[in-house]
Amino acid sequence: MVVAGIVAGGIGSRMGNSSVPKQFLVLAGKPIIIHTLEKFLACTLVDIVVIGVHKDWLPYLEDLIEKYLPSSDNVFVTAGGDNRNDTINNIIMEAGKHIELEENTIFVTHDAVRPFLSLRIIEENIEAVQDGGVCDTVIPATDTIVRSSNNKIISDIPVRSEMYQGQTPQSFTYGIFRKVFDSMTEEELNIVTDACKMFYLRDYDVKLVKGDVSNMKITYPLDYKIAQALMEDMK
Ligand code: CTP
Repeated sequence: MVVAGIVAGGIGSRMGNSSVPKQFLVLAGKPIIIHTLEKFLACTLVDIVVIGVHKDWLPYLEDLIEKYLPSSDNVFVTAGGDNRNDTINNIIMEAGKHIELEENTIFVTHDAVRPFLSLRIIEENIEAVQDGGVCDTVIPATDTIVRSSNNKIISDIPVRSEMYQGQTPQSFTYGIFRKVFDSMTEEELNIVTDACKMFYLRDYDVKLVKGDVSNMKITYPLDYKIAQALMEDMK
């Protein structure tokens, strides 16, 4: 079984004065989250999709699904959590109400605000964790990465060819997520907001899946403008 988990529990504070969280902003006539959802519904390997949305926006999302995807019977929504990993945990618990969760049930988790995801990336995520394990979607860093531990002077300039930018999906089996998430201390959970960082901290080999520059995350108003131009270009 393959579950797509779409994380939409944030409020998009870096987007500024938006009337709705960024995942609900419209791109080419449809909310961003609907574009993202459609990508997973188009993948025949995905059995169900569960969206974790900010609790204040649950009815709003339910209305959108009813409006744009009225015949989809394998899409479920649940309330997000205080941080991204909590949202993923809520998605997994919701999935457990609709399918029987087994050790090797695959979860492909993806940011709602990355609507340009390709079918290839979804399929390669599933393939990467099919025999157990975890994976992250990445692209090679194009800019030189500079590290500063005090925000004032450079502490390190790592070799660029070894640097990647993390995207999503991040995928894993249910068995591994349960073990790792349940082993995290309260303190760790507060600082580790990335699922793959949890797996890395618990010594799992996190495989790399090739992402795509177009699989951008809409974070700032400029990203939204770029996304609008990209959508126009694809039409
Ligand atoms: N996310 C989530 N649950 C949270 C926080 C974030 O599911 N408690 C999701 C967001 O909805 C988004 C993804 O994680 O789809 C990536 O996070 P980010 O871009 O940081 O989104 P926001 O938290 O909404 O943005 P901001 O940090 O600007 O407030």
